[in-house]
Amino acid sequence: MEPLKVHKQKLKILVTGGAGYIGSHTVVELAKAGFEPVIVDDFSNSHPYVLQGIEKIIGYEPITYHMNCRNLDDLDQIAKEHDDIKGLVHFAAYKLVGESVKEPIKYYENNLDSNISVTKFCLKNGIRSVVFSSSCTVYGLPDKLPVSEAAPLKEAESPYGRTKQIGEYFFEDCIKALHPLNVISLRYFNPIGADPSSEIGELPIGIPNNLVPYITQTGAGLRELLTVFGDDYSTPDGTCVRDYIHVSDLAQAHIAALSKLLSDQSTEPKIEYFNIGTGRGYSVLEIIRAFEKVSGKSLPHVIGPRRKGDVPMIYADPSKALKDLGWRAEYNIEEALSHAWKWEQRLPELNLKQTG
Ligand code: NAD
Ligand code: WQD
Repeated sequence: MEPLKVHKQKLKILVTGGAGYIGSHTVVELAKAGFEPVIVDDFSNSHPYVLQGIEKIIGYEPITYHMNCRNLDDLDQIAKEHDDIKGLVHFAAYKLVGESVKEPIKYYENNLDSNISVTKFCLKNGIRSVVFSSSCTVYGLPDKLPVSEAAPLKEAESPYGRTKQIGEYFFEDCIKALHPLNVISLRYFNPIGADPSSEIGELPIGIPNNLVPYITQTGAGLRELLTVFGDDYSTPDGTCVRDYIHVSDLAQAHIAALSKLLSDQSTEPKIEYFNIGTGRGYSVLEIIRAFEKVSGKSLPHVIGPRRKGDVPMIYADPSKALKDLGWRAEYNIEEALSHAWKWEQRLPELNLKQTG
């Protein structure tokens, strides 16, 4: 007699922006955790290579829809082909703070319209479980450190930050209107690093805005030197302090959030907020020193003026995520920087070297 075959159905999760930096790492962790990720991405800020990179890690290329998730008709097409989507992770958004100051319409349009479309899509298709990509930027300049989820949302430092605040208020209003949604908003601190396999990582287009890709590109000789934006802040060494989190740890937080949502038997609409950080702040100079240690290179840098909009110091109180999601960061700063550096060194071989 044939042994009884048990078909354990993998739960399908739609991942908007799944080809991006955090999305691709989350797709990998979803697949490793036994989910079936389905990507929707317009590739406006990602490279098609990423799908091959994901395949090298998980053994297959995830189903991918090359489309703009602001377009509900396109999303409907996905629903026709997959009527068994159980959850949504919504990464798709523009994220450049400086660009958002110059082009607010672009940011409001993409980041808010996409929230509305994906929410309509969920309501239409009976998908209750939603993870929203929020940011520590929603706290503005916090009064108390470490910052907890109970901290009030202060004036946003940029139109980008405001779109994240509005995103959270939008979901809150949908919950108040008793729309059948169960939302977890993850407020990421500063994601850095790359998958330990070096098959995927961050691919900034043009000159990087963020510290770590600027450092690794300087280490690789693509940039002449790093400018440290100000050393006269009232912080221990005068440079700004941030909570840098390994992107694979951050990806894991999405698995923890989805697991909580999918196992929640209650039908009451709700939204919860979680800080996703390590709880430890590092200054810019500490990051430079840690990079020098892991790379064995000395990093050329100069002290420049402050960058407008930078808060002097912010780091997370991540205790709520540990208590309610069972999640905490596992990698330390040296591991995160070493993975970022390994990835940077892989780029010429992958023909992905980005300059500009
Ligand atoms: P990313 O730009 O690498 O990824 C976003 C992806 O979404 C890209 O692949 C892009 O092509 C896609 N996209 C954008 N608009 C789209 C649309 N309308 N339809 C379909 N695809 C679209 O950015 P990331 O760093 O991976 O960030 C992911 C999310 O996390 C964003 O919502 C961002 O605001 C948030 N976040 C990022 C950081 C950070 O420092 N990277 C920190 C906090 C929050
Ligand atoms: C880190 C530190 C800079 C570059 C941004 C967004 C935030 C969130 C995370 C999305 C700061 C200093 C940087 C350089 C430097 N993203 N720096 N020289 O600004 O903390 O956060 O990404 O939600 O919203 O604002 O990150 O990596 O740009 O800067 O001295 O060339 O490094 O001043 O202190 P930031 P960052």
